[in-house]
Amino acid sequence: MNKKKILVIDDEPEIREVIAAILESYFDRDILLAASGNEAIAILKAQHLEISLVLCDFSMPDGNGATVYNHLRETKSDIPYILCSSYEIGEIKEFENFKQTNPKNDSITKPFSSQILVDTISNALSDENQEVLEPYCRVRIDKFEEFCKDNLINVYIKLSSSKYIKILKENEKRAPGVFQKYIDKNAEYVWIENEKYQDVSDVILEKIFSALNTPNASPEEKIELTISGIEVIQDCVKNLGISQKTIEAIEKVVDSTEKAIKETDSLSDLLDSLNKKKGYLKDHAFLTSYVACSIAEVVDIKNENLWANIIKASIFHNISLPTNEKATIFDLKSPQYIALEQKDQFQVREHMHKSVELIGGEQFFPKEVRKMILNHHEQPDGSGYPSGLKENEVTPLEALFILAVNLSNTFIIKGGDQT
Ligand SMILES: [Fe+2]
Repeated sequence: MNKKKILVIDDEPEIREVIAAILESYFDRDILLAASGNEAIAILKAQHLEISLVLCDFSMPDGNGATVYNHLRETKSDIPYILCSSYEIGEIKEFENFKQTNPKNDSITKPFSSQILVDTISNALSDENQEVLEPYCRVRIDKFEEFCKDNLINVYIKLSSSKYIKILKENEKRAPGVFQKYIDKNAEYVWIENEKYQDVSDVILEKIFSALNTPNASPEEKIELTISGIEVIQDCVKNLGISQKTIEAIEKVVDSTEKAIKETDSLSDLLDSLNKKKGYLKDHAFLTSYVACSIAEVVDIKNENLWANIIKASIFHNISLPTNEKATIFDLKSPQYIALEQKDQFQVREHMHKSVELIGGEQFFPKEVRKMILNHHEQPDGSGYPSGLKENEVTPLEALFILAVNLSNTFIIKGGDQT
């Protein structure tokens, strides 16, 4: 999903109108206009998710260009900031580290030609940070062994970030215990060619759903199967995007999660069973669903499809993060975060935006689900991210979700004994 709006900030109405007219004729974006820095900040707070670029004058009453720039820095926004002023960047001390803050930040000196305006903005909107797609998709090794016995496809093990070895050829007879030696070496996943992923995930989900409907499945087995379903659907959305087919599978996983929550006797039993298997992203998704739905039962929150919305936000809030380790980072001042490379810090800082992008437009997930995902790292005192919102700037449902996300993290990190 492209963010569709450009925010133009200038106190002179004629300049705003001219810039808007030029941009509208060159870019498929809506243009938002603000006459001051503080007016722009109010728009940014309300529509951060939809804004792809800020074009800003410097000298303005009621909040100048530095006020807007500082707001973007403080909220750790990835929105490119283009200064459009008679000042040069180097003349203004607030713009120290201008490019380091965001490589797409740029400046245009007034007076400017329409060509310079268009070129600068085209450059800032180009997506050079697009990730290179991997040729293979992962499938949890035990689920593949259990549910995909037909041996119709090539199967690989990942050795390093770009190196895979084939461990099973298409149509080759599978020797008993062929996966065990990799499991013994702590391999969690096998990898299959991208184009085979849809078929394999369909088979695994179908088997998970039919196992869940087996009358003799124990509550513990149902939780384990449900969490496996959560992981498969997370990977489906990452690998295949949102389609009618994925939406149908998501609804089934949400439904089985709701049933599993209702059948869970106690938090400590749940934590005990989670601790037996590793996998922070899937476990945290289920535990957040459980904690948030449990809190929702005892507080008065009006929301249609309350549990389903909470469960959807729980399943997808960290979907853009590639590793369990990155998902455990909650504090941007922590040594764990500081030790990351700049691009990885950016990925952690911005994962809520990317997660919302991955789940598609509002036709698939309602606004309240998207807002829970977007704001799940905000904090009541305004110290959270991405927007530094305070307690009175989030809805009660978002506040409940933030609490559940934080509690679940603490429960998983500290284990059941601490609860
Ligand atoms: Fe997160």
